[in-house]
Amino acid sequence: MTNRLTIPRPDDWHVHLRDGAVMAGVLAHTARQFARAIVMPNLSPPISTVAAAEAYRARIVAAVPPGAEFTPLMVCYLTDGIDPDELQRGKEAGVFTAAKLYPAHATTGSAHGVTDVRNIYPALERMQAVGLPLLVHGEVTDPAVDIFDREAVFIDRVMIDLIKDFPALKVVFEHITTAEAADFVLAAGANVAATITPQHLQINRNAMFDGGIRPHAYCLPVAKREAHRLRLRAVATSGGAKFFLGTDSAPHAVSAKEAACGCAGLFNAPFALETYLEVFDEEGALDRFEAFASRNGPAFYGLPVNTELVTLERAQTAVPHVIDANGTLIVPYRAGEVLGWRLSA
Ligand code: DOR
Ligand code: ZN
Repeated sequence: MTNRLTIPRPDDWHVHLRDGAVMAGVLAHTARQFARAIVMPNLSPPISTVAAAEAYRARIVAAVPPGAEFTPLMVCYLTDGIDPDELQRGKEAGVFTAAKLYPAHATTGSAHGVTDVRNIYPALERMQAVGLPLLVHGEVTDPAVDIFDREAVFIDRVMIDLIKDFPALKVVFEHITTAEAADFVLAAGANVAATITPQHLQINRNAMFDGGIRPHAYCLPVAKREAHRLRLRAVATSGGAKFFLGTDSAPHAVSAKEAACGCAGLFNAPFALETYLEVFDEEGALDRFEAFASRNGPAFYGLPVNTELVTLERAQTAVPHVIDANGTLIVPYRAGEVLGWRLSA
């Protein structure tokens, strides 16, 4: 039995760090686990200019705990009116690593998102030309579509044309939750990849209704049926280059989650590697964790693999019931449970 695993320090290819005091609190957890992270731009107001991304990056860098090494990779939030020149400037200045498509009103902080993907075709044209990857929240917002079908319908209504119209654009289908999305990504070219969260590998939609309504199992896209979870586990643990780690850690205060209308998002950053590793262990795929966590993401983004190594060992790790993120109380994913792995200090 393998009891220790040493791999290049992983990166998180999708995280919400927020801003202000809470940012410093949650950042410490991400910086403990990861060398770099793709930082989501869905702040209020959103990060849609080079200047805003530079300022946000500086606030993050200033909040990295002493002794930790962490590089935030910034993302431009695409709006209907986004200027292609701004995207190119941000890419050339080394500020934008990617740009994010939120369909308007699909999720938290998406009110300024894109109302029709055709509106950003000039931007996508430029991104394709300059090599700036597109990150996609892949859910339709049509209220007539069942919430559990919104990702699959997005493939038919948006994704198929998008990759046909921009055959050289790098596209990351973010936080995929369905077999349809996994199979779409597999069938597409090498320019199309996906991130997968720990929760979508570990829970199905029953978790939201286990003995009562469970706000801490609610995120967007929502967890789907068991068959989808099993398909995601198969592709994530396959070692295939198209799938890589992206936690979608999305912290919200306890009070915002435990409410009549609770916010979407799970705070999984504190024990992300330990939880992912449980999945690879259960699937007999420990030898493929390095590809998913440390190699596939950098390869897709054209960045070097981190040279520092980290070790994970088999050990009981208790997840606290609540974490104080610099004054904001947040319930972490798997709160109160004991995990089977530990990231060595
Ligand atoms: O559950 C989610 N929370 N999904 C998202 O797409 C956004 C995120 C957030 O920012 O809270
Ligand atoms: Zn997200």
